[in-house]
Amino acid sequence: MAELGINVDHIATLRQARMGLEPDPLYAAMIAEQNGADQITIHLREDRRHIQLRDLKLLKSTIQTRLNLEMALTTEIIAIAKTIKPNTVTIVPERREELTTEGGLNLKIKHLDQRMKELQEVGIEVSLFIEPDIEMIRSAERLKADAVEIHTGNYANAKNINDIDQQLSKISKAAKAVKSTGMRVVAGHGLNYHNIIPLVNLKIIEEFNIGHSIISRAVFSGLAEAVSTMKKIIS
Ligand code: PXP
Repeated sequence: MAELGINVDHIATLRQARMGLEPDPLYAAMIAEQNGADQITIHLREDRRHIQLRDLKLLKSTIQTRLNLEMALTTEIIAIAKTIKPNTVTIVPERREELTTEGGLNLKIKHLDQRMKELQEVGIEVSLFIEPDIEMIRSAERLKADAVEIHTGNYANAKNINDIDQQLSKISKAAKAVKSTGMRVVAGHGLNYHNIIPLVNLKIIEEFNIGHSIISRAVFSGLAEAVSTMKKIIS
């Protein structure tokens, strides 16, 4: 059975819109865990646009499952990861101007192998977020990654049946290639309640990391109760 990592960055985005205390990603993580999440995923971005260092520290000390920290390979964030020691770090590309992570990592980054080793040496599992590309997977294996998270963004954005099939086939081949190396097979980005089904049916992906669609759905499954509670107070 595949495991589910819940990305709670989107809760922090809402909190940062007011620079206040709510909604708190810690509370979101607790609810996610109580309802079957196997992992909590956060991205501590260099610009701190959503998750803050405080969230990372508190999540690490309070969650009951596993913590997956998505991060760019900068000196500052590596030092933070080595101190806080999440269970996993997923190395992602990061550009300040992007709305969300765009595309997989370039594995030709200087000193990638050394940086990965530094993290692995303190007991952190290292996952690489890459495109569903066989050459990339071979490089990830050479780099001794523990896991590969296949970028599913192009699949999620595919607009017609042919394109969807083509993207799905790439993911299927990539997932098999990752599995054959012994690295863990993870997938994520842009997954929702519809496009997840063919990926689950591949029966090879061991973990999905999902944020936006789940938090979007939560807004509407909770809005009726939130309005009626306020109405009761007012009247
Ligand atoms: N996996 C990775 C590596 C990501 O960067 C993201 C986005 O932060 C996700 C999964 C979750 O993507 P989404 O919010 O589109 O479900």
